Amino acid sequence: MDTSWRFIARSEARCRALEFAKKAAAADCSVLIVGPTGAGKDILARDIHQHSRRAKQRVLTVNCAALTPTLFESELFGHVRGAYTGATASRPGFVELAAGGSLFLDEIGELPAEAQAKLLRFLADGSFWPVGGSQEKCADVRILAATNRDLAAGLDRTFRADLFFRLSVLTIVVPPPTREDLRSLARVLALEIAERYRAPIAAREASALGDLASNTVYRGNVRELRNAVERYFLVRSPDRTVEESWKAACALDLLAQQGLRGQGSDGNFQNDAQAIESLDDLLFLRCVRETRSARELSRRMNRSLPYVYSRLAKLGIKPKDLQSAEIIESASAKIRASLAPHRSMFLQILNES
Ligand SMILES: Nc1ncnc2c1ncn2[C@@H]1O[C@H](COP(=O)(O)OP(=O)(O)OP(=O)(O)O)[C@@H](O)[C@H]1O
Ligand SMILES: [Mg+2]
Repeated sequence: MDTSWRFIARSEARCRALEFAKKAAAADCSVLIVGPTGAGKDILARDIHQHSRRAKQRVLTVNCAALTPTLFESELFGHVRGAYTGATASRPGFVELAAGGSLFLDEIGELPAEAQAKLLRFLADGSFWPVGGSQEKCADVRILAATNRDLAAGLDRTFRADLFFRLSVLTIVVPPPTREDLRSLARVLALEIAERYRAPIAAREASALGDLASNTVYRGNVRELRNAVERYFLVRSPDRTVEESWKAACALDLLAQQGLRGQGSDGNFQNDAQAIESLDDLLFLRCVRETRSARELSRRMNRSLPYVYSRLAKLGIKPKDLQSAEIIESASAKIRASLAPHRSMFLQILNES
């Protein structure tokens, strides 16, 4: 198995996607990656870049859904000083910054019509005009694009056919993972998360987890599987079997969903939602205790630093308090006490099969 590709495939359909990606890596043409949410389009795009002749240069990502047409033009092609109010200095766009490398246009299906026209011009010959500029520029950038929409079905109505054909020199379909994909994915994700949490996992446990995880349906595909495996690490303990911990991890998710839908044990949405939030805070504090560093927390949780700081602030913990075991312990104790009345609800759900 070629482990230099992070995209994991076992089923025939996903292996085919990987084969196409290998061809794409060697070819340097534009690539369109399509597939449902959480199937692995981002990871495949990055893999293609890493295995292309451009690997030593950058791959930059632009989320097309997040940009208005005007913003898109300036973000992509840059602007000169005075191009608009507030443009106090010239700024290069993504295209220039990624020169020699690749540009990953995520959620390309959401690109407004005006921006589609601008992109088409660039794709045709690699030339572009910075906003407000008086000189045409050129950049050698490889375009990788992804969408979970069926662009071909909306051609000419929502997506320009000429742009579609330019982008999709090679189209790679990433299907949702099947059971056999899930088994391998869960195993690999478990090893990866174990390393991140510095919580070693034996090959046998990872393999048992893979078997259990492959029996579940994930609407959010690999993303949801990853969350489930991560939750497994939060609830796993030496006095539980792998199966018990897995059940607890699934129950935790169920709990959150029930809380969100307002179907908690006593039908009191407010109470249950709060209890679940507290449980989440307790799990967060467990991570805090292990790391004692906001930066490390941000890395482990795969969330931004401001997010980590806001969670700490919510619990009344200042950045300097991270060094104080007492403060963290007292915050945990307070939450544990507030959760006590909800014990029976948690146990009831944990015991449901
Ligand atoms: N084949 C894979 N191997 C390892 N991890 C994967 C794989 N596919 C997806 N993942 C993991 O699942 C999560 C979602 O993957 P990714 O972001 O690539 O999905 P996506 O198809 O781009 O979804 P969306 O359409 O919602 O953007 C990521 O955390 C990624 O690391
Ligand atoms: Mg994506």
